[in-house]
Amino acid sequence: MRQLFHWHGFDATALLPRGWQDELHQIAGTWAVRKDLVATSVTSRETPGAVIPVTTVDGGDLSKAAPWLQELYEGPFCELAKAAFGCEVTSAQNRQYGVNLNVQRGELERYEAHVDSNPIQGLLYVTTHPPGTGGELVIANRSDAIGLEQIDADCSIIHPMAGSLLFFDARLHPHYVRPLADKNAVRISVPMNYYTDESTEDDRPSDLNEHLFASREND
Ligand SMILES: [Fe+2]
Repeated sequence: MRQLFHWHGFDATALLPRGWQDELHQIAGTWAVRKDLVATSVTSRETPGAVIPVTTVDGGDLSKAAPWLQELYEGPFCELAKAAFGCEVTSAQNRQYGVNLNVQRGELERYEAHVDSNPIQGLLYVTTHPPGTGGELVIANRSDAIGLEQIDADCSIIHPMAGSLLFFDARLHPHYVRPLADKNAVRISVPMNYYTDESTEDDRPSDLNEHLFASREND
């Protein structure tokens, strides 16, 4: 099935505390954990056998290090998600996967091709990556795309801009993040899981936590 991907966007800078970017950079440097993702989850859309190193700060650590971000996630950001989607929206009860930091460094790291299990994904960008510098989010317009080549063949692209807050439904749109062009560049984003009455937190696939958070090594 083909459907052009779309998203809702806000400029969240007016809601963010002074020094928020420096603080999140520091937290990424201190708490980020690296893991080799073996693409076996039900939500993976990698070609068979793919192994993707990913670096994240999970919500347990993040909510302790930046309680203001947890408050924004549960409060003002959740209100914006409701306004964007025009329905009742809830934040996750489980802090581990409610709000995370995704950290990507240099030319070798990217993020796994996958579909979301949650009906509304929030994304706050901490760093800016203009066209030509890599780090773009690539989202397939076709629900049956598997692997980077098929996603790239018919896709929509989002270039991260610091302070941008996006909401979208990517349950039927496989997506991944491209590597950065500069080996010294760092990309940081804040993915946030939201739920609706029609697709609740209880519907989250049981293998996802194991897939995303287990067996991680300190970065
Ligand atoms: Fe996603």
